[in-house]
Amino acid sequence: MALERTLSIIKPDAVARNVIGEIYSRFEKAGLKIIAAKMKHLSRKEAEGFYAIHRERPFFNALVEFMSSGPVMIQVLEGENAVARNRELMGATNPKEAAPGTIRADFAETIDANAVHGSDSLENAAIEIAYFFSTTELCPR
Ligand code: TYD
Repeated sequence: MALERTLSIIKPDAVARNVIGEIYSRFEKAGLKIIAAKMKHLSRKEAEGFYAIHRERPFFNALVEFMSSGPVMIQVLEGENAVARNRELMGATNPKEAAPGTIRADFAETIDANAVHGSDSLENAAIEIAYFFSTTELCPR
């Protein structure tokens, strides 16, 4: 088992639904520690930069529009196999296909407003964490 860090974002739809605490509770119950957090209303440019990997995808513009439509809650999670564990908690990208009891099944309805982001690999986690946090903002314990 490896101690890992991953980047999580509670997206504008879930922030608007006022379920930050419920989602944090799922992280904590799964053994993931929140070692950094910030609430931020992303600019279009920040959202574009974060999702640059999806630039050529047909949903890119809508995704950037949505991610900059309201505040998001951004956190670094640390724990054993944090990348995969967070992806399990999130559920499938399309909430209609997400397993019962997952965050997306419980708090989202559509693929374009699906409540949470989570890094999909350890390599991307490092890049995404550095996109939003300096090393001095991380508080491991
Ligand atoms: P992706 O990286 O495939 O999914 P995940 O967030 O589960 O890692 O896609 C990134 C985001 O892009 C996804 O959370 C929502 C949005 N998206 C759409 O709006 N439509 C789509 O068809 C897909 C695949 C993604």
